[in-house]
Amino acid sequence: PKVTYELPDGTVHDVDVPCGQSVMDGSVRNNLPGIVAECGGSCSCATCHVFLEAGESFFDEPTDEERELLEFAEGVRPNSRLSCQLIISDGCAAVRVTVPGTNG
Ligand code: FES
Repeated sequence: PKVTYELPDGTVHDVDVPCGQSVMDGSVRNNLPGIVAECGGSCSCATCHVFLEAGESFFDEPTDEERELLEFAEGVRPNSRLSCQLIISDGCAAVRVTVPGTNG
């Protein structure tokens, strides 16, 4: 499924992210800047912080662990998520995230 990333520099990138991979994977594998993902996706760094602008219904609610980590991210908004916890599945469509400029 296609995921749209709006980067800190204002550019917008559409990436095809395979099912089972995370929104973080889709960014890192395509060398998009902004999602640092220091911990490699194990939900322990918060440098994969994004704003989930569209498609929230396709993803599970944040776990307690994710919520706690998000407290360490800068500029948190109600739609803040850790992109390594946003796993793409078959039905995903029109998922869109904004990458804040403050990760890592
Ligand atoms: Fe570290 Fe997501 S990559 S919490």
